[in-house]
Amino acid sequence: MPAIEIAAPGGPEQLRLVSRPVPSPGEDEVLIRVIAAGVNRPDVAQRQGYYAPPPGASDIPGLEAAGEIVALGSNVSGWAIHDRVTALLAGGGYAGYAVATASLCLPIPGELTMLEAAALPETVFTVWSNVFERAGCKAGDVLLVHGGTSGIGTTTIQMAAAFGVRVFATAGSPEKARVCEDLGAVRGIDYRTEDFVEVMKRETGDAGADVILDMVAGAYVARNMAAAAMFGRIVCIAVLGGTKAQIDVALMMRKRLTLCGSMLRSSPVARKAEIADAVRKRVWPLVAAGRVRPIIHSTFPLSQAGAAHALMESSKHIGKIMLSVDADPLLVQQTP
Ligand SMILES: NC(=O)c1ccc[n+]([C@@H]2O[C@H](COP(=O)([O-])OP(=O)(O)OC[C@H]3O[C@@H](n4cnc5c(N)ncnc54)[C@H](OP(=O)(O)O)[C@@H]3O)[C@@H](O)[C@H]2O)c1
Repeated sequence: MPAIEIAAPGGPEQLRLVSRPVPSPGEDEVLIRVIAAGVNRPDVAQRQGYYAPPPGASDIPGLEAAGEIVALGSNVSGWAIHDRVTALLAGGGYAGYAVATASLCLPIPGELTMLEAAALPETVFTVWSNVFERAGCKAGDVLLVHGGTSGIGTTTIQMAAAFGVRVFATAGSPEKARVCEDLGAVRGIDYRTEDFVEVMKRETGDAGADVILDMVAGAYVARNMAAAAMFGRIVCIAVLGGTKAQIDVALMMRKRLTLCGSMLRSSPVARKAEIADAVRKRVWPLVAAGRVRPIIHSTFPLSQAGAAHALMESSKHIGKIMLSVDADPLLVQQTP
């Protein structure tokens, strides 16, 4: 099968189109003929050599893919050959075929295309588990999300707005800030010209944000604490601005803050299956109703995965960057 492998840690040119054997599903897994796969920032970190696949996961990048089930493991129930699914993967999505844990597959919601459905699992699972489960975000809360036009950010804004949360989002230009508002944020904040701590205080009558979803860390940690409300919950999911921070512990005590973080990919399968169940019950109906929709910036053929990564690193995109497998003229698929 065609697959993209990381020849050596480094730049986008290290992503190479190769031929690999079609993988066999384990007893709790299904084999998916991949139609489309999502590109996520953790794939970039993996390519650079900073984010190794967890034990047992494929070395092929790709944390989400959609397609048709073509083989079932011996323990799998509830899925059948030819079912159309989208799946959260621990790796292996940038390929013609991918194995997925059966409990981490979800049906294609509503009238979505395979491409649209492939754009959902990594961000929806991450946002649900961090914003709504860990941080307990609920209707009426004020939420601040950084990276508002990222794949994660565009998903967060729409999901939170649909659940009745008052959303604020930072982004790196006035145009991106407006997009955040178009997606449902009450205020997009251009962090290059505005201080998000001041904006949050002004917009909330000095109360601050009940929940903050952070992917920057570094100097943002102390500023998040300043922007947080009493009993605020700050969840960190990435360290784009650095891993080290200095904080005022007395402020954390005075505001009764909760600081936490998590990593989806290396979580136990049982935990990811719990998230999948919740996503299917709570988020899939919103997607089917068109209230949460994948925002796709651009789609590259699988063979041009390097160009997709270069675009992601430029941060010029708004929403998701995708790979299309069956539309790639360089690839000839053969059913195993
Ligand atoms: N922990 C987990 O389980 C988990 C799961 C999935 C994703 N993630 C993380 O979540 C983040 C978003 O993922 P994604 O796939 O949605 O990525 P993405 O679409 O590439 O978005 C990242 C965004 O962050 C902003 N950004 C980059 N560097 C920044 C900096 N130094 N300061 C402020 N903003 C910066 C950029 O927008 P601007 O132009 O606005 O700066 C960029 O669009 C990634 O860091 C990823 O690793 C974590």
